[in-house]
Amino acid sequence: MSMTTGPRLASAVLPAVRRLAAAGCPSATADAEALAAESAAAAGDGALERFEALVARRAAREPLAYILGRQTFRGLALRVDSRVLVPRPHTGALVEAGLVAPRGAHVLDLCTGSGAVALALARERPDLRVSGADISPDALAVARENGDRLGLEVSWIESDLLGGAPGPWDAVLANAPYIAEPDEPELARELIVHEPPGAFRGGLDGLDIVRRLIGQASKVPWLALEVGDAHAPEVGEMLRAAGFREVTTRRDFTGAERVVVGRR
Ligand SMILES: C[S@@+](CC[C@H](N)C(=O)[O-])C[C@H]1O[C@@H](n2cnc3c(N)ncnc32)[C@H](O)[C@@H]1O
Repeated sequence: MSMTTGPRLASAVLPAVRRLAAAGCPSATADAEALAAESAAAAGDGALERFEALVARRAAREPLAYILGRQTFRGLALRVDSRVLVPRPHTGALVEAGLVAPRGAHVLDLCTGSGAVALALARERPDLRVSGADISPDALAVARENGDRLGLEVSWIESDLLGGAPGPWDAVLANAPYIAEPDEPELARELIVHEPPGAFRGGLDGLDIVRRLIGQASKVPWLALEVGDAHAPEVGEMLRAAGFREVTTRRDFTGAERVVVGRR
């Protein structure tokens, strides 16, 4: 970087914060600073031009994680792009549900996306035999790349729910798509415009995929499902009706009921 690029870049940050705030970005200051740091690190003398280009992408409400190409999840530095949903911190509750699996259990992370849940389990419980499955070959390519780069052993399976991944499994965890169609207009543009629709659309009531998965899970002894706000009681009933005798709910770090666990 030349002697003048640093000050020029620094003086571009405040206008960028204003631009991002005007575009409705909820964390405009932090985002502008992250993009400035990224531009300074990656682009040498072209840092200012690179910064302007990245700010334009963020002003169009592209998720910061896609622009940077990475997202941290439970301390794992994951590569992410528009082939996968950006892993959310509240999904840590699904990992925590899986941490209680018995020693050496065969665990499936269904709807694995970037591989976040499977890879976190593989790192935090190296005794487990972890697999990750997704219907999207593009998502699986991202998950596989993440696993290889992080040196974590997970088997990856292309499958429509349990159809191509019959097990047997000791435990199945899934963050399946669960956004209800009528809720979409209320949701962040980052999700609705930029993330893969197949990763979040759950039909009219949000439960189409969860319902189908529970219907397939007659041989699964332990099933943990991440659920949308207010879905926990209904999903709990669905699990009981499907023969899961013990049904419990786990809260995420915000206090919301986020994971419903059924045990036979
Ligand atoms: C909400 S994302 C979860 C991604 C990741 N587990 C996470 O928590 O960040 C849902 C994932 O389910 C996958 N998916 C959607 N329908 C599916 C199906 N019928 N069978 C398997 N995977 C499916 C999508 O491709 C997407 O990667």
